[in-house]
Amino acid sequence: MALHIEIQHTKKSKIDSVDFDNLPFGSVYSDHMLECDFVNGAWKTPVIKAYSPISLDPSSKIFHYGQSIFEGMKAYKDADENTLLFRPLENFKRLNKSAERLMIPAIPESIFMDGLKKLLEIDNQWIPKNEGSSLYIRPFMFASGNGFHASPADAYKFIICTAPSGAYFAGEIKVLIEEKYARAANGGVGFAKAGGNYAAQFYPTQLAIEKGYNQVIWTDDNTHEYIEEAGAMNIFIRINDTLITSPTSDRILDGITRKSIIQIANDLGLSMEVRKITVSEVITAAQAGSLQEMFGAGTAAVISPISGFGYQNTDYDLPKVAASYASLLKKTITDLQTNKTEDPYGWRVQL
Ligand code: PLP
Ligand code: COI
Repeated sequence: MALHIEIQHTKKSKIDSVDFDNLPFGSVYSDHMLECDFVNGAWKTPVIKAYSPISLDPSSKIFHYGQSIFEGMKAYKDADENTLLFRPLENFKRLNKSAERLMIPAIPESIFMDGLKKLLEIDNQWIPKNEGSSLYIRPFMFASGNGFHASPADAYKFIICTAPSGAYFAGEIKVLIEEKYARAANGGVGFAKAGGNYAAQFYPTQLAIEKGYNQVIWTDDNTHEYIEEAGAMNIFIRINDTLITSPTSDRILDGITRKSIIQIANDLGLSMEVRKITVSEVITAAQAGSLQEMFGAGTAAVISPISGFGYQNTDYDLPKVAASYASLLKKTITDLQTNKTEDPYGWRVQL
């Protein structure tokens, strides 16, 4: 049976005020949003309505105990203006994995997928057509139930908002390898897309920005010897012709871009290793001239090349590689996402 969604169209579209040729990232919002409440032990009928503020009791547990998780996805238009998603079920599954860890009730697949498809049908004109732009999709869930007792809430909201967006980073990024702070710990919530993971990154990232870097490279919380993630991206490092990325763990987000890149790199015949990588291995490679590339990978940032990094008061520049793996992999994955090439994996979902 098809999911029943209540639809309340906006009275006035804002689309004419948007400059689709100069889109920022994630700060212009489409006309509608989907909202669904979990109350009395059940998810209620989702509503698609005008993008608008939400009203919450000051004692809502989201404000006090941070029970909040999110996802990040994108919708694309191909040359024939078909609407495309990339591996959306992976986002759905990961949201519920995050939900389980944060004691938030699982969202049913029909509300997530059918709700998203309906929202994209209604706001279809908001999906950018320009190359390099897409509709960033932000599904999220949080504790709307109230009480100062430090225990899970009895009510939650699931919302999907969308934002026509351009690039996340303006250009290449310079990163600082973190020696003191950690974004995640064993047994913690690093593998989940919990809002608090990002809040905890802001302070160390600000310290890095003040030193002239754009992002922090997260190392393991125990020894700070192992390279784990690059800000809100998974990290890839090329030494000679081998591409290396860390294995996922309690501390590392199982990125959909990351696992797609691993598959594509293998299928392109690149030497691809998923293994732990130490800071000292990277420094040794930089000193020997064998460190070729570093890049971050994620939905928002796609593939973002790193131009240099700092570690223990020394800066290391990466060489400008002519035919970089970053550009080859970026082209391969974005061509696949936007229907410019065949999709041998079945990752692309046309609505
Ligand atoms: N790592 C972190 C901490 C992230 O927030 C993200 C963003 O979603 C990623 C990695 C990349 O994951 P994905 O490729 O699924 O977007
Ligand atoms: C994404 O890549 O979609 C993310 O969720 C990163 C975000 C913090 C901007």
